[in-house]
Amino acid sequence: MYPGNNPNEAVNILDLHFIPLLTEQQVQARVHEIGAALTARFPDQKPLFISILSGAFVFASDLIRAFKSDCEVGFVKLSSYTGTRSSGAIQTVMGLEKDLRGRHVIVVEDIVDTGRTLHFFLNQLQLQEPASICTVTFLRKPEAAAFPVQVDYVGFDIEDKFVVGYGLDYEGLGRNLPGVYQLSEQG
Ligand code: XMP
Ligand code: MG
Repeated sequence: MYPGNNPNEAVNILDLHFIPLLTEQQVQARVHEIGAALTARFPDQKPLFISILSGAFVFASDLIRAFKSDCEVGFVKLSSYTGTRSSGAIQTVMGLEKDLRGRHVIVVEDIVDTGRTLHFFLNQLQLQEPASICTVTFLRKPEAAAFPVQVDYVGFDIEDKFVVGYGLDYEGLGRNLPGVYQLSEQG
């Protein structure tokens, strides 16, 4: 399944065929732009990055290293997906242990699809009275937005097609691909 040294090669994961959408270089350049913007916005606030697991862990790990000032990191695990379709119900599988009161929080998502996950999580977050909430997503599918959510920084707007790579998976596979691949209609 693995693209050798050629990022233009398609990949097969289980029964599905994926074609290249974003190269590692494109991804890294954009992550560094967002990191620089966040550094400028939160120079002395020691923001707390909250990474939504599992998908956002790759993006979050690059993003915090592109953030050139003091910060902390925490994780929550939410789950709404089975296979290639959103299942509807959101589950909090793992919660946050940190006290958020008075903290500047930066929520890091892998992808905003319907917006349901972020909408649910932001509501929970508000209750803990952070000083501010900033939202960052690596990818966004604008055509699929069913739940209006404020997203402050978007890596890339993409078509409403299933994608893998850079943390995103199909049945647990593909997270370690350094670029992003989209499901091919040709099968
Ligand atoms: P919602 O619909 O709640 O979806 O905005 C966000 C969550 O669903 C997962 N998701 C995907 N995962 N490829 C994936 O591997 C995709 O194309 C995709 N679309 C949504 C993801 O976990 C995200 O947090
Ligand atoms: Mg997933």
